[in-house]
Amino acid sequence: MRYEVDFLVIGSGIAGLSFALKVADYGKVCILTKTNAAEGSTKYAQGGIAAVMYDTDSFDKHIADTLVAGDGICNREVVEMTIREAPERIKELVQYGVNFDRDGGGRFDLHREGGHSEYRILHHKDNTGAEIERGLLQAVRDHPNIELKENQFAIDLITQHHLGVRVTKHTPGIECYGAYALNSATHEIDTYLAKVTLLATGGMGNVYTTTTTPIISTGDGVAMVHRARGVLSDMEFVQFHPTSLYNPSEKPAFLITEALRGAGAILKDHNGNEFMQKYDSRLSLAPRDIVARAIDNEMKIAGVDHLYLDARQIDKNELINGFPTIYAKCLEQGINITKDMIPIRPAAHYQCGGITVDKNGCSSIKHLYAAGECSCTGLHGGNRLASNSLLEAVVYAHNSAMHAIAAVPSIHICHEVPDWNAEGMVLNEEMVLITQTKKELQEIMSNYVGIVRSDLRLQRAFDRLNLIFRETEDLYNRSVLTEELSELRNLIACAYLITKMARARRENRGLHYSIDLV
Ligand code: FAD
Ligand code: SIN
Repeated sequence: MRYEVDFLVIGSGIAGLSFALKVADYGKVCILTKTNAAEGSTKYAQGGIAAVMYDTDSFDKHIADTLVAGDGICNREVVEMTIREAPERIKELVQYGVNFDRDGGGRFDLHREGGHSEYRILHHKDNTGAEIERGLLQAVRDHPNIELKENQFAIDLITQHHLGVRVTKHTPGIECYGAYALNSATHEIDTYLAKVTLLATGGMGNVYTTTTTPIISTGDGVAMVHRARGVLSDMEFVQFHPTSLYNPSEKPAFLITEALRGAGAILKDHNGNEFMQKYDSRLSLAPRDIVARAIDNEMKIAGVDHLYLDARQIDKNELINGFPTIYAKCLEQGINITKDMIPIRPAAHYQCGGITVDKNGCSSIKHLYAAGECSCTGLHGGNRLASNSLLEAVVYAHNSAMHAIAAVPSIHICHEVPDWNAEGMVLNEEMVLITQTKKELQEIMSNYVGIVRSDLRLQRAFDRLNLIFRETEDLYNRSVLTEELSELRNLIACAYLITKMARARRENRGLHYSIDLV
């Protein structure tokens, strides 16, 4: 099938939905989403969204905290713009119908998380993301100009390459004409032609074995831009969250929000002793890279596969009412957090790098925007400050929308684009070729390109990735395309980019830490 729209949005998390709502009065909008509309990292966000809402805090402090976490390589202009725009974007979320917790006087109840010098995290209990996703999805479903299509898997961006032009990364003026997408119901690959396209495909946590991100987070947008020869940056900065609930059989790993440490929970070693004083004066609330490395180190020294988070000193009512999701989840596992310590370990959580965009969300490819976790704006630098990503997503959805609305009247649909050609492809009947390679990839990345790296580990990863890249491209070139094969190719592309950029960074900075660079 062929479709034509003004605005094509790939992804229905906070970034895609916010963009769609903003452009919907200016043309026909189509949102493609890989599985069901609510599934994505947004739904799982617990802690909240950072913004300066009252005079007790200041933009300068939030800017300073973001720059410190970013370890000297944030783009200062971007940081200032994002943080100053935040209150306006929060007001819009509230207008779309999103609820944030308030105190008895109607003021927002603000939490504090690692790296923040003030209480500035707006939240909805400990399920903020689910509330944001609910509110935005409702608003999208109520808008007559937006068509939301579930189970549509975008596989590649359409550029001049599909018109027979050889495109390299040096080709001037690469343009995006839309995307090809696999319809999971018909198994057909449809052609979506658009005046502008927004990638809002989220993160890539599944490059690693243990991740807090949902199984849909396979770096599809980043890989599509890589294949289309667009510019990507900062991929070496993978954020590991210090505290995911230790339960090896569960995927994704359940997050224990940093807000729990903000409320007083303390990290303890396998013997129940505090250890953060050895690593940072901010103790359990030091920035995440420091805390994750400290936990990794303590686990390695003791030869154990988890440590503990002790929330028992927090008031029982505050625990049960303020963190109901965590309380219930832990109880399910036989852990009563008012009485027992919580077993935790770090998990891949967030990708700071991605598709390079300017302040308007424009990528290096014409008519292609990116927002949310798949993008790299310069806000996070070497390390993202907690709860700054939902904020970045709404700010960049807004900026991209404003730019796209102005651009669309002068852009024409490219009708010369051919449909996807699957001639000669055969059905791959051995799923093991995909599942085993995915496991290998995740193990390579977890063991060699994880929290602590070395030149030798990165070299090993690179060599092994090369082999599975070649094997998988061979499979791709002869097989009928499926979601699983497409995801595997995307994961391999992301793993390659992370490893390549990690090898190129010859300094320990932010989330990139190598024992050879100490
Ligand atoms: P997502 O919400 O991940 O949505 C991605 C969308 O893209 C999905 O709809 C998916 O179906 C679609 N998609 C992907 N690939 C394709 C494809 N090929 N074709 C079609 N559709 C596709 N950040 C904070 O600021 N505060 C927090 O408290 C917080 N807590 C977090 C807790 C957890 C457990 C996790 C995992 C992350 C947390 N983060 C938090 C990070 C934050 O939630 C994410 O960065 C953010 O939600 C990403 O939003 P997004 O719109 O970019 O992507
Ligand atoms: C958390 O709640 O700890 C996660 C916050 C974030 O990832 O920004």
